[in-house]
Amino acid sequence: MSRLHVTTKAHQWMNQIENPESIVVDATAGNGNDTLFLSKLAKEVFAFDIQNEAIEKTRERCASQTNVRIICDSHERIFEHVKNFDVLVFNLGYLPNSDSTLCTQTSTTLNALKLNLPFLNKKGYLLITYYRKHPGGNEEYEQISSFLENDPQLGLLETYTYEEDLAPVFQIFQKC
Ligand SMILES: C[S@@+](CC[C@H](N)C(=O)[O-])C[C@H]1O[C@@H](n2cnc3c(N)ncnc32)[C@H](O)[C@@H]1O
Repeated sequence: MSRLHVTTKAHQWMNQIENPESIVVDATAGNGNDTLFLSKLAKEVFAFDIQNEAIEKTRERCASQTNVRIICDSHERIFEHVKNFDVLVFNLGYLPNSDSTLCTQTSTTLNALKLNLPFLNKKGYLLITYYRKHPGGNEEYEQISSFLENDPQLGLLETYTYEEDLAPVFQIFQKC
């Protein structure tokens, strides 16, 4: 069975849904890989992270992009920086080769979604990738995916994973 990486799957969807007019939020900038990828497809990207190291890495990686705004703040406060957006991207977990205690947390991720989904434009997309092997990761997946799947304003377009114990999971939703 082919084992497409969840990041590749997420990028395939980004290619499919983005357009040059879209305003995008990367809620977990990390190393800036997603931010850079998105900046080549969209009008403007707002990238958030709470870790200085991640902010610096994203700044370096996106140095040549003029349409990226990098914000050192929790994704719970996205709406205070940008009021309407077409695409919202979460890549949960922790920054690889970095402080794993600065991991996304179920409570703050849930809060971020509750507070910011009202600002996602109609027909807009939420892309979310869960990693389940680190402490708290599987609980985060179970609680967040259940919350999103039961939100009547969201339609689930795809859940992607592969056969492996606690394999990562990618989901994409569209707002009605
Ligand atoms: C898996 S990494 C993201 C990888 C990134 N998308 C990339 O392409 O490199 C998760 C990131 O979420 C960040 N994070 C954790 N809690 C956060 C919060 N409350 N608000 C914003 N970012 C947070 C971590 O600092 C970490 O850099």
